[in-house]
Amino acid sequence: EPLIIRDKTQMTKWSRTMRSQSKLIALVPTMGYLHQGHLSLITEAHKHANVVAVSIYVNPGQFSPNEDLSTYPSDFQGDIQKLMSVPGGVDVVFNPKNLYDYGEGDSGGEGGGDGGVGVVSCIEKSGLGHESWVRVEKLEKGLCGKSRPIFFRGVATIVTKLFNIVEPDFAFFGKKDYQQWRVIQRMVRDLDFSIKVIGCEITRENDGLAMSSRNVHLSPEEREKALSINKSLSKAKSAVEDGQVQCEKLRNLVIQCITEAGGTIDYAEIVDQHSLEKVEFIKGPVVFCVAALFGKVRLIDNMEINL
Ligand code: PAJ
Repeated sequence: EPLIIRDKTQMTKWSRTMRSQSKLIALVPTMGYLHQGHLSLITEAHKHANVVAVSIYVNPGQFSPNEDLSTYPSDFQGDIQKLMSVPGGVDVVFNPKNLYDYGEGDSGGEGGGDGGVGVVSCIEKSGLGHESWVRVEKLEKGLCGKSRPIFFRGVATIVTKLFNIVEPDFAFFGKKDYQQWRVIQRMVRDLDFSIKVIGCEITRENDGLAMSSRNVHLSPEEREKALSINKSLSKAKSAVEDGQVQCEKLRNLVIQCITEAGGTIDYAEIVDQHSLEKVEFIKGPVVFCVAALFGKVRLIDNMEINL
């Protein structure tokens, strides 16, 4: 059984005790409702560190008021069982109640006013008085940042808070959320966190669907249609290997395949692996990133193409 810590002061205490015993500490941040993709990060963490901490916290700071915070799935007991099934298990689960509640409330400000531009998170609506945010100004803008303008600000901020509370040596992120991984990597470099960020490969179902906590919301029909994402990305990758380097052609292939299957494209972009800037002709390492809706479920996936 892992130790379960809910209090942030206790969490820091635990970490400092481990450090005083010369243990290398890994942190795997999650929002729970764990699946094999999350567990693969823990397996990777055991290769680098002596002790592994998993955080389970659905972060209101990265949800807009119109997003799915209230319906985000959770199953804490199930998560603990899954964590115990991983070889080596985990040493501690950090499961705080509310990391934005400083016990003071809003100091009287308006709170939540966004001037109608849609850049408010559930935190600003909450009136808790939290007003400090970490931003990775360019990387946060494209891809998922277009339709979710406060998302990466919320992610960078909560990951900073978790880093400060847990004080890990290593932190593990899935390449499934490619832009998130790059945003955190850049933040750690730019702000001199002494933490090594490690990106882990995407875990897929046998039929190729990228594992996601959101997959439970798909009907069987929608799930079948959603296979078009990975299928079309694989096709595009083969096309590149056969000499097609024009991104417009490759994008059209993917957009057509997903649209014909009944999905609605949010974006399908071929971008530089580090800057995430759009590329017109493939000359070096790129990543093909897709977000698409099946019914009400928004799925993301990507494929690295290393020419
Ligand atoms: P969550 O969606 O729970 O994901 C936690 C971690 O698991 C992320 O690093 C994500 O990239 C990774 N992951 C999810 N599905 C994966 C898959 N199929 N293969 C490999 N890795 C996968 O991402 C978040 O939570 C949050 O934004 C968080 C970083 C915890 C900040 O709140």
